[in-house]
Amino acid sequence: MAEFRRVASINEIPPGKGIVAEVDSKKIAVFNVKGVFYAIDNICAHRGGPLGEGPLRGTTVNCPWHGSGFDVTSGQVLGPPASTGVTSYSTKVEEGGIWVALS
Ligand code: FES
Repeated sequence: MAEFRRVASINEIPPGKGIVAEVDSKKIAVFNVKGVFYAIDNICAHRGGPLGEGPLRGTTVNCPWHGSGFDVTSGQVLGPPASTGVTSYSTKVEEGGIWVALS
């Protein structure tokens, strides 16, 4: 069964924004899309750029280093130069916080 870990308060991520959270030394990018929270690996599949620091438009985040697009709802790659997607994680909102299941 998935173990959820609290990564942030819901107030820390406004709609249309993302953050980089750390869980057990693993960096996770967490985004707020119109009040729904999504989590994917922070490390870009191209050369490791920090996806949680990239601009979010709708459900697409662009890597701040070279611009690859990723769907934050699935981790799927949407545009080059990255050719593979990243892992996505289940989230839930509880007790005023955002929780992410890493396994
Ligand atoms: S490191 Fe993300 S596009 Fe290059």
